[in-house]
Amino acid sequence: MTDTKPLVRRSVIMGSGSALPLRIMTNADMSKVVDTSDEWIVERTGIKARHIASDSETTRSLGADAARRALEHAGMTAQDVDLIIVATSTPDQTFPATATLIQADLGITRGAAFDIQAVCSGFVYALAMADAMIKAGQAGCVLVIGSETFSRILDWTDRTTCVLFGDGAGAVVLRGEMVPDSPASRGIQVTRIRSDGRYHDKLYVDGGPSTTKTVGHLRMEGREVFKHAVTNIASIMDEAMTEAGIAPKDVDWFVPHQANRRILEGTARKLGISEDRIVMTLDRHGNTSAASIPLAFDVAIRDGRIKKGNMVLFEAMGGGFTWGAVLARY
Ligand code: ACO
Repeated sequence: MTDTKPLVRRSVIMGSGSALPLRIMTNADMSKVVDTSDEWIVERTGIKARHIASDSETTRSLGADAARRALEHAGMTAQDVDLIIVATSTPDQTFPATATLIQADLGITRGAAFDIQAVCSGFVYALAMADAMIKAGQAGCVLVIGSETFSRILDWTDRTTCVLFGDGAGAVVLRGEMVPDSPASRGIQVTRIRSDGRYHDKLYVDGGPSTTKTVGHLRMEGREVFKHAVTNIASIMDEAMTEAGIAPKDVDWFVPHQANRRILEGTARKLGISEDRIVMTLDRHGNTSAASIPLAFDVAIRDGRIKKGNMVLFEAMGGGFTWGAVLARY
């Protein structure tokens, strides 16, 4: 029987890739830098190690490596791409956008490239933007990259923040395709983004070109962030699933921003999601901000957990506050 549902334009995830700095810094290494312990970090966060970029490994180089791997995985070439969106809060330079640097590295001379800055929610924001551009017919194939070198903006004397973050990059290739209008069809089903700027001073960087004329260091009121994270994340996931007309049991894999094991467990409990359906990489990557979702996604694609046809829910919350969720059938 032929499917009689009308066709709609959807953004289909064609491939994924990731890149990590060579150097691994364990919690034991961290305890030589600040007064901390493996026991404290694992118990409060779930993090055991993170990758730290060398001087020659930058947001640009990591992002370009992840992008090349994503294109190879998709069986596509750089010349197929007509838009590059890079989610980052740690660009190589204040301007131009890191996306344009990566565009040049990939040898692309057509289309457009720009950065999105929504801190840890950056990749979800970038997916939402890419999907909107594809649906509007403004782009056919979009490279969405999350790339960060948070180690450069950490205060390495502040044990309450420096133990939490790591460096890395992940990327996906999205392509516009006409598919039957059904949750069974591949592609992004729902995107939701939110922000509430009243909380801008709960997680921020204390410098910038227009104020201090410096890069600044990351500052955070950890307990405040924690308090809002579980509530905001659970509600946006709920909204995304309701809009798609599905329940948590219909989602095969949850690929959350990897901030903190306790936030992930709290959210899962609230929505009744069993932990064996949550992709967790924070034990080995730490919190890589906008890179954490595509990094985790790529790990689960390559180890065979996430398969074609699976329903995947991405979610994140970060500085701003910003938060969001994207539901996609891979
Ligand atoms: N090692 C050892 N002890 C530490 C460390 C450390 N690295 N950091 C703090 N402590 C100490 C504190 O000094 C304090 O000691 P005191 O009781 O003698 O004063 C004690 O541990 C408890 O400190 P709290 O800050 O109250 O610890 P808390 O249980 O809140 O855990 C944490 C801190 C892990 C940051 C927690 O607040 C949290 O998970 N917050 C969420 C923030 C987050 O994950 N942010 C990531 C970026 S935002 C995002 O991506 C969503």
